[in-house]
Amino acid sequence: MPSSFPRVAVLVGSLRAGSVNRRLARALAALAADRLAFAFVEIGDLPLYNDDLWTDAGGPAPVERFKAQVAAADAVLLVTPEYNRAVPGLLGNALDWGSRPQGKSSWAGKAAACIGASPGAIGTAAAQVHLKAQMVTLGMIVMGHPEFYLSFKPEDFGPDGTVVNDQTAAFMNAYADAFARHVARLSSGK
Ligand SMILES: Cc1cc2nc3c(=O)[nH]c(=O)nc-3n(C[C@H](O)[C@H](O)[C@H](O)COP(=O)(O)O)c2cc1C
Repeated sequence: MPSSFPRVAVLVGSLRAGSVNRRLARALAALAADRLAFAFVEIGDLPLYNDDLWTDAGGPAPVERFKAQVAAADAVLLVTPEYNRAVPGLLGNALDWGSRPQGKSSWAGKAAACIGASPGAIGTAAAQVHLKAQMVTLGMIVMGHPEFYLSFKPEDFGPDGTVVNDQTAAFMNAYADAFARHVARLSSGK
């Protein structure tokens, strides 16, 4: 049965099988499943952005599929690794495809947030500064607070992907609540 919860399109900026960001996103999706319906959107099959790939019929098939999946969602969650203090090209490429054709952006007016994890101490804070600025420019209605920077510790996550560190689980729960409120506020026009 389809869920009646707000639909959140989740874009993960890593293709690695062992991605800590994907593990984080899955754990948050499981934890928030009683409030939000997360749908993971594939971005690894999008070609590198090239204006020439648009035709009168539209974009390449993966781009059309990607834009349709984002359009069907009430909100967007970007899950970013930090590469060289910035956002990985994979995620930037997806944002670029979504932003075109002009006047048909996938992002304008979408409720949105970003989170990220890295093994380092600052947990993607530097990358998210760039990403949030770009999200605002793209017209997303970005949840600024709470911020979500995770210094990833493998021992905090169980083999089934659940969060086993109580403090981390409590923070993730509070974050899911705040994001659900952000999405609801926008849906109700308040
Ligand atoms: C090209 C590259 C650049 C990186 N730069 C940073 C960085 O600036 N800050 C950081 O905390 N970690 C950096 N890392 C380490 C990543 O945080 C780490 O590989 C992380 O696991 C990537 O996310 P993923 O597991 O979801 O793929 C970098 C990794 C790569 C491959």
